[in-house]
Amino acid sequence: MAVVIIGGGQGGFQIAASLRAEGYQERITLIGDEPHIPYQRPPLSKGFLVGKQEQRHAELRPAAFYEAQRITLVTARATAIDRLARRITLDSGEHIEYDTLVLATGARNRLLPHDNVFYLRTLGEAAEIRQRLAAANDVVVIGGGFIGLEVAAAARILSKQVTVIEGQSRLMTRVVAPVVSEYFRSQHEAKGVDILLNATVQRISDNEVLLGERTRRPADLVIAGIGVAPNVELALEAGLPVGNGITVDEYLRTPDEHIFAIGDCAECPSLYFETCVRLESVQNAVDQAACIAKAIVGHPAPYGAVPWFWTDQYDIHLQMAGLPTGFDQVVTRGDPESRKFSVFYYRAGKLCAVDSINRPADHLAARKLIGAHATVSPDQAKDESFDLKTAVS
Ligand code: APR
Repeated sequence: MAVVIIGGGQGGFQIAASLRAEGYQERITLIGDEPHIPYQRPPLSKGFLVGKQEQRHAELRPAAFYEAQRITLVTARATAIDRLARRITLDSGEHIEYDTLVLATGARNRLLPHDNVFYLRTLGEAAEIRQRLAAANDVVVIGGGFIGLEVAAAARILSKQVTVIEGQSRLMTRVVAPVVSEYFRSQHEAKGVDILLNATVQRISDNEVLLGERTRRPADLVIAGIGVAPNVELALEAGLPVGNGITVDEYLRTPDEHIFAIGDCAECPSLYFETCVRLESVQNAVDQAACIAKAIVGHPAPYGAVPWFWTDQYDIHLQMAGLPTGFDQVVTRGDPESRKFSVFYYRAGKLCAVDSINRPADHLAARKLIGAHATVSPDQAKDESFDLKTAVS
């Protein structure tokens, strides 16, 4: 018996750790193509950039853990899966056999068709950006999503001149309602960030970014965070089905019973949202890993964790529970002026997501509500004297 995991990110690491926690005794091989022991990515665009956190703080476990837990770390790229022989090939030409294979191949940054642009996903990329940031004066960030705004906040904390260029008409469009986008725009502007919406970069030179005839910004460092694409090629070439990610069932298994897929690269049916979803979050990777580890040791259960996400920008802690996809109504609890409020998203009258800004108790209540398939009415959500906890039976 042997488990081979392709991908040494949060999900891949967690499978190995959860398997040992579940008492799995056989061989575990964790294959990653980065020259580091597994680390968490969230600090890279936050504390790491401003020098508050170092590589060792991001490492998920010290190196000794892997030896103690008999988890073999292999630094290589897997290049092919032979499903009949149950064997993978590495870029070194070596082969590794498996009984169970877990694809935790993650996602990669989308790239712009311009040179002189830096991207942030790996520790190596973050280290390079951190070094360049220290020497820069004018920083242009392309993309007003999580990564772009976290980088913009870090650059402002380091007193750089910062411009954010966002293609859409508001910030973080993919994940939040206009009221939350607007709040973040106002907070970044209050910190001195120059935000350009509906903006498209035309050219990037050594020292400036051109957006049109008359719009240009000085730039000695350009960083883009314009979204990610799942790494599905290995699965595709092995003949596994792929949609917006590697297709798995509610047990996170591909149609090949020996192969699972998890995390950013996998698309699975959602218990809460009557559709298949591919989620890019630490929570999803960790909870899916725990679910697969249980299946491997003989206790399969469908994956059913409530999705949640977070971002930190300056002193603003945004926590998101559920998925707002297709929302048709939002109500706000608390006053944005107070810098502590939550936004409740409804789809066809049912609560589907809650964003909480500096209101962690609302976030926890929301996770319980959504997890219990419970709801609160928009009037109850708005009414701060209504105790959200009472709505969870
Ligand atoms: N020019 C300007 N903006 C663009 C362009 C472009 N050419 N292309 C995309 N954008 C904008 C999108 O409109 C969006 O607001 O970039 C933003 C990308 O935001 P996200 O999709 O949230 O992606 P990103 O911020 O890169 O985060 C990638 O890392 O932290 C995780 O959870 C995060 O999974 C996410 C991943």
